[in-house]
Formats: sequence, structure tokens, C-alpha cells
Amino acid sequence: MEISEQIKKETDPIYQKISKVVPEIEWAFHAPLIHKINQLKKEKNAVILAHNYQTPEIFHGIADIAADSLALAVEAEKTNADIIILCGVHFMAETAKLMNPNKKVLLPDMGAGCSLASSITGKDVRMLKEKYPGVPVVTYVNTSAEVKSESDICCTSANAIKVVESLGSDKVIFLPDQYMAKYVQSKTKVKIISWVGTCIVHEKFSAQEIKDIKKQNPNIKVLTHPECPPEVIAASDFTGSTSGMSNYVKNNQPKKVMLVTECSMSDNVQVENPNVQFIKPCNLCPYMKTISLPKILECLDKETNEILIPELIIKKAQKAVERMVAIGRNH
Ligand code: 13P
Ligand code: SF4
Repeated sequence: MEISEQIKKETDPIYQKISKVVPEIEWAFHAPLIHKINQLKKEKNAVILAHNYQTPEIFHGIADIAADSLALAVEAEKTNADIIILCGVHFMAETAKLMNPNKKVLLPDMGAGCSLASSITGKDVRMLKEKYPGVPVVTYVNTSAEVKSESDICCTSANAIKVVESLGSDKVIFLPDQYMAKYVQSKTKVKIISWVGTCIVHEKFSAQEIKDIKKQNPNIKVLTHPECPPEVIAASDFTGSTSGMSNYVKNNQPKKVMLVTECSMSDNVQVENPNVQFIKPCNLCPYMKTISLPKILECLDKETNEILIPELIIKKAQKAVERMVAIGRNH
């Protein structure tokens, strides 16, 4: 595809930044779309919020804010834009809507789900509340707005421990990720009652894989996400949210690192840390990967795929998310 001089001038600086992780042959397709999306964004006063798992051309090419799910929720509340395009998965777009219900929130692919979000329903939460009367419900943001509306407070991987300990209860129901629940349990005296959800990306990693990589690369730092199984977390050097991992690399500049999480994360962090060598385990999130530049352009242009949540659910779920945001990040 032939790129015009104007498009080349505007997009070349982006390509220079990400050329190590995006092949030149692909750039010929990305550049005109990036140019058009950035133009349309200005015309429509739209903001693009992208999760750390988005591909480098989205993360570095068109995102106004690229971050973990806690920061995306905070930014959604702060924005003055008329339209929010959420490049991530459905629960993230719903959370943005809860934080700013008067804005138009669009998701480029309505099929961008999440195995954790689909592991639990509002009915399941009501059943748990009946089984454990009076026990507060902490819900991971990776859930539907309906599930959030049945909860006392939300959390993300960046503040789960702090949220659990903020409640002053000796027991909490913690939903829906069983591994995140185990991780939180290992860090607190509060008794955690968990559910059976898992993330299809993080559950695939094994401790043996980490041990083998460490043997082959003696000084490597291995960073894990708390959605990983406990033995994987135990074999690692640091555990944190996606932005927590990214900040670890930025602040410590290890010679070699492995991020035990979704594939695109390593590409995005590598671009910003050229002196760090990355060993990349590759587990793709099929949901995150449904988002692409052509779909973003179409969604922004036609203003399709709007996130709509019933008023009653908004009111209840909003409280749980706002309570979480007020607590901030883990110490
Ligand atoms: P973070 O909140 O750490 O960005 O993680 C979101 C997610 O979906 C991880 O799989
Ligand atoms: Fe859900 Fe896992 Fe994908 Fe994150 S990586 S969106 S938790 S399936």
C-alpha cells in the first residue's frame, strides 16, 4: 500500500518508536488508519483509552491513555471528551460508563469478553450473599456491571489487598478469580471466601516453565500477574498489576526480564525500555485481540457499539467502583 507524504510525515515518528516490535510490511496498513483515527478523534472530541494488552500500533499509535484497568477507570471519570473509545474488553468499557454515565462509551468489538467476567452472574452473587449473610462482597472489576451492582466494593489487581483490608471485616467474599483470591489470602489475615473463575491467559503458565527460563537465564527477573496460579507466582520475583509490572521494569531496569502475562504487554514495555532484554512467553488474550485499527475507525466514525447499562444497575454498580477508586493502589 502506498502511503501519502502527509500520512508519512505524521506517522513516521510513531513507527520509529515501535519499529522493533512491528514489521515494516504491517506498517503500510497501520499508518493510514492511525492517521485517520487521530484526525477523527480531534474532530469529534473523542478520547481513546487503551489497556496495556492492546497491540503496539494501538497502544503507541492512537491511545491518549494506555494503562491498567484501575487507571483506565480513573481516567474515564476525569475526561472532558464527548466520546470515550475503550480499546480493551467489555467489562472495561462498562466500568468507563459507570464512572461517567453521561458520556458516550464505545467498544470497537462487542465480542471482547473475558473468561473471568463470564464465570459469574448476578444470581451467583445473590446466592453467595444468602449463604454468607453479612459478609462483605469484594468484586474484581473483571465482571459485568450486573455483578458489580450486587457487590459492596470493587477492586483491581492494583489494589485488591488494600480494598479487602479496608472493610474492617474478618471475612470477605472475593469474586470471581480463584487464583487472585489465593494471592490476596497469602498477603492478608482476612479470611477469603472465593469463587471458581480463572483467566484463560494466566492459568496456562506453569512453574516449570519459569524454572526452566531461570536456569537458562540466571539473572533474569520474572514478573507475574496475580491472576497466575500460586506456584507460578511463588517462582517469580515480583507480582503486580499490568502497570505495576511496567513500572517495575521502568524503575529497576533489569538486564533481562520476563513478563508472565499477555503477549502485547512485553512489546509495549520493551518500546519504552530499549536497554532491557525481554524473554517473551506468548499467551494471547483472544478477547483483547478482537480490537483492531479498522474496527476502531469504524466504531469512531459511525459511533456504533455504544455501552448501555440499565439505570438501576448503574446506580448500584457505580457505588462499588467509586468506593474502590477512593481507596487507590496497594501500598
Ligand atoms: P490489570 O488490571 O492488571 O491491568 O489487568 C487486567 C486484566 O485483564 C489482566 O488480565
Ligand atoms: Fe480476561 Fe484474562 Fe483476557 Fe484479562 S487476559 S481480559 S482476565 S481473559
